[in-house]
Amino acid sequence: MNSKLNAIGIFDSGLGGLTAVREIQKIMPNEDIVYFGDTGRVPYGSKSREAINKYARQDARFLKKMGVKLIVAACGTVSSVAPDLSEELGLPYTGVVYPTCFTAAQVTKNGKIGVIGTAATINSHSYKRRIQAKHPEFEVLEQHCQLFVSFVENGLVDPDDELVQMLVRRYMAPFKESSVDTIILGCTHFPLLAEAIQREMGENVTLIDSGKETAIYTKKILDEAGLLRDDGHKGEAYYYVSDTPADFEKFAGLFLQNSPENRVEHINIEEY
Ligand code: DGL
Repeated sequence: MNSKLNAIGIFDSGLGGLTAVREIQKIMPNEDIVYFGDTGRVPYGSKSREAINKYARQDARFLKKMGVKLIVAACGTVSSVAPDLSEELGLPYTGVVYPTCFTAAQVTKNGKIGVIGTAATINSHSYKRRIQAKHPEFEVLEQHCQLFVSFVENGLVDPDDELVQMLVRRYMAPFKESSVDTIILGCTHFPLLAEAIQREMGENVTLIDSGKETAIYTKKILDEAGLLRDDGHKGEAYYYVSDTPADFEKFAGLFLQNSPENRVEHINIEEY
């Protein structure tokens, strides 16, 4: 296993964190990326706090072993349930909750924000607490959408697909009856369903993409730490998964500009 010194390390339970990878590649084309998708243990959002904590530590330790310069938990569930691991790891570390809430609070006009996430994320009230700590006057409506994760992991994201439409309609119903003008896609899998959600909610509702906001924030951290790469190097991405690479390769193209074909390696995450 080669060390990937100077790369950005990113992890998620599966494919979702690729929404952050896509944005990082767009705004930081010189950066190398090491991605770990814990496809053998997805979904995280329906697991216990103990399990999520254990998985987050193992995922981050694997990336640290790879020699990365910063770690991004591109997972709303880990960011909501597990602690900030920067001290433990001795590395800059960020999750998705802070940057996503920051943007949502700037974007809303009527102070009514919807949050969708996994069951663990919604039960933790992480987004709601973060927003209301700064803006106690804001109303935050929460809805878990755990089944979205399975849909996305199986490539079921087509907004014309009846099954997708039915599930989106069911989960969005509480928001339809409210007057939220902003919805946080608080799980990094969900931006893949953004078109279906937007159609259901209409154009007056702004969707906040947790993968994208986290990528922008990551750039800021690297810049402030003097770690941003701008030497003309063409950034490469290296992918690792805990289940068979084939399924990951099959659907990763939905998230990325280029499919990572033949560039995905299996690792045994229990060793970390
Ligand atoms: N993509 C993850 C998140 O942002 C995890 C989804 C899951 O594994 O349940 O929450």
